[in-house]
Amino acid sequence: MATEAVLVGAGSRGVLTYGGFAKRFPQRLKFIAIADPNDEHREIFANEHNIPKDRQFHDWKELLDKPQLAPVLINATTDRLHVPVTEAALKKGYNVLQEKPIAPTIEDCLHLLELADRSDRLIQICHCLRYTPYYSTAHEIISSGKIGQTITIDYQENVTFDHMAHSFVRGNYRNVAGSSPMIIAKSCHDLDILVWFANGRKPIRVSSFGALTHFKPENAPAGAPERCTAGCPYEHQCPYSAIKIYIKELGPDIGYGGGQWQVSPSTDPKIRWQALEEGPFGRCVYHCDNDVVDHQVVNIEFEDELTVAFTMQGFGAAWPKHPSELYGSITGGVGRTFTVFGTKGVMHSPVYGHIELSDFLLKHTEKIHTGFPEGSHGGGDFGLIHSFLDAVEKGTANKNAVNVSLKEAITSHIIGFAAEQSRLNGKVVRIDEFIKSLKG
Ligand SMILES: NC(=O)c1ccc[n+]([C@@H]2O[C@H](COP(=O)([O-])OP(=O)(O)OC[C@H]3O[C@@H](n4cnc5c(N)ncnc54)[C@H](O)[C@@H]3O)[C@@H](O)[C@H]2O)c1
Repeated sequence: MATEAVLVGAGSRGVLTYGGFAKRFPQRLKFIAIADPNDEHREIFANEHNIPKDRQFHDWKELLDKPQLAPVLINATTDRLHVPVTEAALKKGYNVLQEKPIAPTIEDCLHLLELADRSDRLIQICHCLRYTPYYSTAHEIISSGKIGQTITIDYQENVTFDHMAHSFVRGNYRNVAGSSPMIIAKSCHDLDILVWFANGRKPIRVSSFGALTHFKPENAPAGAPERCTAGCPYEHQCPYSAIKIYIKELGPDIGYGGGQWQVSPSTDPKIRWQALEEGPFGRCVYHCDNDVVDHQVVNIEFEDELTVAFTMQGFGAAWPKHPSELYGSITGGVGRTFTVFGTKGVMHSPVYGHIELSDFLLKHTEKIHTGFPEGSHGGGDFGLIHSFLDAVEKGTANKNAVNVSLKEAITSHIIGFAAEQSRLNGKVVRIDEFIKSLKG
């Protein structure tokens, strides 16, 4: 029988990812209530999942004032609501699947960790990348010892230029006050993968540089209006044109593209034009209230002198129409890539879904194609939801059954906030001292 759940936040993740999962696997997950103040979002979700009127709530507080309605609550609200919603849900007795990041400040992350420790309920953070065949294959290779002891890792998160403009210039995560530093909002996933690749070795020191260099008013072409829809003379020369990205390049449906959905769930060009005229996504990228970086490098030293060089940057090449076209068409510069150097070999991934394994002794390179399973994040989202439901079905006594519990996810967030401190004050941050300073 399907596990029953309530959803808080029917935005792009709520509707497309979690709602999409319940529609695809009705025998596993059934939504029985929804909370969202946005009438259009709430109604879309309620209609798609046949939720009766008396189970449709206008705010998370309204839903959580009621007695517990189901064993599971999925918290897909935006970053600043993660902690209050999850805190109230745990107190009510829900098992919680919460979107990343844990929280927008390190103090709130630690607060939630404490609550989770005291609670007998499951809480899982949506670090979906661990559930992709791509990253799990890479992790298995490291754990198997095939490349020997990992000495150093070179890792890149090349946020595509249009994703950067959507989320970190025009959209939800454009400024720290409304969300969190970009190294957390975007790359807590990558830091989590690096912690996973470090295989139990603890982080010791972090340093970081980075800035917001490009998406600023001084870089606007002369006379560019505040909105792309206001007759911008640069429309055909500008890769960031909202008209181009959100109307001309939209395919026949929105699919898993959460960004396009956020502009409007409708594909009607007239409705979308109006959304661009009125909403945040029609703004010129040089005239937004953004303050998060557009590029940042982070160096991490783990135990046993394992070093990591991580670059997160917002000028990655566009994804091809289908991920299977990636290999060979673009050699790097799009999405996530990494190279892990070990004492016996090298594991290199030039593009998502492809791993090359070089063995020093055999002087042989094996090519592994991990493929692109169904669903968003290379199959990671569906894998994570299945795994969370498995843990819920086994019972709350099995608290450590979830792969990315809050206890596991906290390390990536500590590294991210320490990196941000280093970027801002120009000093190397020792992780133990950073933690001590928070507790003191
Ligand atoms: N795991 C991942 O890889 C991944 C990917 C994208 C986004 N995210 C995270 O998922 C979360 C949601 O992102 P999104 O893209 O769906 O954002 P979104 O803006 O599309 O959706 C957020 C929804 O929350 C609703 N909301 C606002 N106030 C509320 C309230 N008081 N009560 C209930 N609902 C309320 C909004 O109306 C909106 O429908 C974010 O924290 C984001 O960081 C995670």
